[in-house]
Amino acid sequence: MNKMAKNELMRSLLKSLDAPVEAKVHGNLPEWVSGTLFRNGPGRFEYDDKFYEHLFDGQACVHKFEIKNGKVFYFNKLLETKSLSKTINDKRLYPLMSPADVSSTLFGRLKTFFNPTNDIMDNTNVNIVPFAHQQLYALTETHYVMKIDPKTLDITKRLSVAKCIPSSKTIIAHPHTEADGSWIDMGMNTSVPGYEFVRYDGTGLKDPSLDNILQNGKVINCIPSSHSYTMSYFHSFGLSQNYIIFLEQALKLSFLSYASSFVLNKSYGDCMYMDPTWNTKIHLINRTTGEIVAKKFHTDPLFVFHHINAYEKEIDGKTEIVVDICAYDANHFDIKKLKYQDMFTDRLMGQPGFKPMARRIIVPLDLSSVNSESVYCKIKDLNSNLSLELPNINYSKLNTLPYKYVYGANIYQNPLSIVKINVENDAEQWEFKFEKGEIPTEPVFIENPNPQSEDDGVLLVMCLATDNDYLLILDSKDLTEIARAVLPDEAKGSFTFHGFFADAVVDKALN
Ligand SMILES: [Fe+2]
Repeated sequence: MNKMAKNELMRSLLKSLDAPVEAKVHGNLPEWVSGTLFRNGPGRFEYDDKFYEHLFDGQACVHKFEIKNGKVFYFNKLLETKSLSKTINDKRLYPLMSPADVSSTLFGRLKTFFNPTNDIMDNTNVNIVPFAHQQLYALTETHYVMKIDPKTLDITKRLSVAKCIPSSKTIIAHPHTEADGSWIDMGMNTSVPGYEFVRYDGTGLKDPSLDNILQNGKVINCIPSSHSYTMSYFHSFGLSQNYIIFLEQALKLSFLSYASSFVLNKSYGDCMYMDPTWNTKIHLINRTTGEIVAKKFHTDPLFVFHHINAYEKEIDGKTEIVVDICAYDANHFDIKKLKYQDMFTDRLMGQPGFKPMARRIIVPLDLSSVNSESVYCKIKDLNSNLSLELPNINYSKLNTLPYKYVYGANIYQNPLSIVKINVENDAEQWEFKFEKGEIPTEPVFIENPNPQSEDDGVLLVMCLATDNDYLLILDSKDLTEIARAVLPDEAKGSFTFHGFFADAVVDKALN
């Protein structure tokens, strides 16, 4: 495909920084904001005259902002993955979502198919997450995870979940983290086929022979797919105090298309299709016993990348599970339209299907009076005005528990903004709007060490800008700007999806 005009802030970085650079801080950065913000996203798309068309195919670039004593230092690194070196050395593209490279050969493609742990799958460009408060991992949605050196951002270990937990063929980029730093994550079991949930125990790290996350993975259970040769796409899942909540949704991946794609020179993305009539199935697993709740639940068709939070609630002696998500309209959403060149242009902005909204599903657990085969679960908007993606909450304190506030980024409607809504009261909303020529991403909540309320703290937002990129620090109560750390001219960032803030304690343990 020919190159089209793109938003100039959708950068394609050809090289990483050589060393950290100091940002110039304006405003009053609170002294207690001390630690490191890590970010991950697609940093490089272009290779001579070729480029990866889809947003999800850009080569991983990890970024960090070190904040200490009111000073901010920025550093980035294009991860030295095998997919990056193969793309450069072979002068051909190895896309997952973009159209296939016409220069590939049938033999080469079949070789890839018969080698399930092939290297092109190691572009871990979606998230960067701590494990057991001691280790750092870059994640995507294939079978690879990369252990990252927090200082240099170099890859220190390439790990394949498929080699450690044979039934799991993939691992997603949104694990839930328990208090001790253990993960609950999920992946694809292609034999069942089904959605397999795994707990990666972080306490095992006390044994010095256990030096990586995958060595202590234990399967919780696997939810069989509703189809024989097809699975729903999944990107995250919900967690309440007692249940894992999984939404089997309208975007499907056909195994038959996938098998033939290697002969027909199609990409993984070409094997996906939307079924907008597919009622979302809601599956529950008991976290303690691993038992799958036998009763069936469903709600309206939708598409979801991100769960916001989930919790159990008693009403008149009956228990229900509240499941909050950022949902897209299944009739209009098309994952293939998330093209690198179209991001933040009129070709995508404001288009039908690209208005994710915070929505709430209520799953009734007490079903003594319900006889139907599958229970319909009510779904409603938590706020009908603001589009909200890349959600963030006061996670360490309120994940799995009742909460009031969610923060997020509006990245599909002009003007772009950081938004906050009260999930208990849709009259309460806040928005920080950006100028044209600025692109924000996921806000990361940092709690005040002596909090007076759930939302007492700051939001850190990495922003790309026509002039100079910057780290924005907002008061998380009302989204007013309290400081920004502006990068020098020579330091350019790139779009990021996700990351986390390592406070001073975790930051020390990581290093
Ligand atoms: Fe995500």
